[in-house]
Amino acid sequence: MSQTIQAIRGMNDILPDEAELWERFDDAVRGWLRAYGYRPIRMPIVEPTPLFARAIGEVTDIVEKEMYSFVDALNGEALTLRPEGTASCVRAVLQHSLLHAGPQRLWYAGPMFRHERPQKGRYRQFHQFGVEAFGYAGPDIDAEQIVMCARLWDELALSGIRLEINSLGSTEERQRHRAELIAYLECHREALDADARRRLHSNPLRILDSKNPHLQELIEGAPKLMDFLGEASLEHFAGVQALLKEAGVPYRINPRLVRGLDYYNLTVFEWITDKLGAQGTVCAGGRYDGLIGQLGGKPAPACGFAMGVERLIALLREEQGGVAVQAARAEPDVYVVHQGAEALAPAFRAAEDLRGAGFDVLWHCGGGSFKSQMKRADASGAQVAVIIGDDEAREGSASLKPLREDAAQRRVPLERLAEAIGDYFFGDEEDGNV
Ligand code: HAM
Repeated sequence: MSQTIQAIRGMNDILPDEAELWERFDDAVRGWLRAYGYRPIRMPIVEPTPLFARAIGEVTDIVEKEMYSFVDALNGEALTLRPEGTASCVRAVLQHSLLHAGPQRLWYAGPMFRHERPQKGRYRQFHQFGVEAFGYAGPDIDAEQIVMCARLWDELALSGIRLEINSLGSTEERQRHRAELIAYLECHREALDADARRRLHSNPLRILDSKNPHLQELIEGAPKLMDFLGEASLEHFAGVQALLKEAGVPYRINPRLVRGLDYYNLTVFEWITDKLGAQGTVCAGGRYDGLIGQLGGKPAPACGFAMGVERLIALLREEQGGVAVQAARAEPDVYVVHQGAEALAPAFRAAEDLRGAGFDVLWHCGGGSFKSQMKRADASGAQVAVIIGDDEAREGSASLKPLREDAAQRRVPLERLAEAIGDYFFGDEEDGNV
């Protein structure tokens, strides 16, 4: 027998138990986004490769080695499966001149692709909810985005997600810091590892983010970007912090938080948990005031973040165990049991009529004895079984059997079936039997 084909490493199937939990998570997130005035936008999964090289930066892990890029065999175009959503979102906003209508608060969701080494919490296809605000320059939107995350953790009953923030200042401030940083690292060139040496002139800021324990002392002593920030940058950062304090959202300033994408300036932030091992960042983002101009648009300020859905779902499971998953199971209201050639058509029609009346109905497929069908009905989690056999079919009726309580089965004319089930679920007010 030939071997079955497996999914690509690092790209996962999300099976029904898990997918139902995802849906519940999606519903909660959508409601939360609405509450903050964010509107949905959907972008393609494949984009022209230069979009990401220009937006994320040529000398980043993502662009250097993690993109699923290919040449379209039909027209020779260089294409890439999106590794993140911000670049696509900015492209869409510019392409459709959305900013002509004023500032925009937008969100998107869906799969992203990075050719990373798969491990727990790190996948090659993963999912994000991304949130982007365009046209707002003040620190209030940075703070609002951070505070809204805090609210979501509360709403999802997730605890222990800590907030780290930093300011990356302006381009000029970063350039002055960069020159001093390179000079400092040059003086210690022999102590650098291969990765750091390679990045020394291309992306020295990322060296500060190195996890190599041998570099930590060197990094500690390096010139700090914070010391290069001018008045306006410091004021913006102070403004964000004041509003976080106002909202009672605790944070830690991490001067080494630099992010792995090049488009950021001023505020950057990450939400981190210790409960998921090495891949503990569940949400991250910041301001990127230069990106719109860099991608050819009329410069406008921007600020956003993205949440890793796999990581947040893992955290939900970690904190709530199987309970969340069980609760997520979608149970039908009604299970339709039918037997005999004569019963097929009326039972099929009854199931459709009940759906038309607003009930979730599971139709029994595949025949079998009444006993085995009733077993399935019971296992489905449905509240009531509607049973139509030859007798009922001849009579134009159905038997209604409550499955979750010890109540008698009764016959109901088919034209009164929806009403009778409604009475069962919502009580018969006329009889005072609510
Ligand atoms: P990012 O930090 O690259 O930022 O990704 C955001 C989040 O996506 C991470 O914190 C993590 O939860 C999740 N994530 C990233 N890579 C993986 C992976 N390989 N497997 C599982 N989860 C992953 C961005 O993507 C920016 N576009 C965020 C942003 C929006 N900044 C401004 N606006």
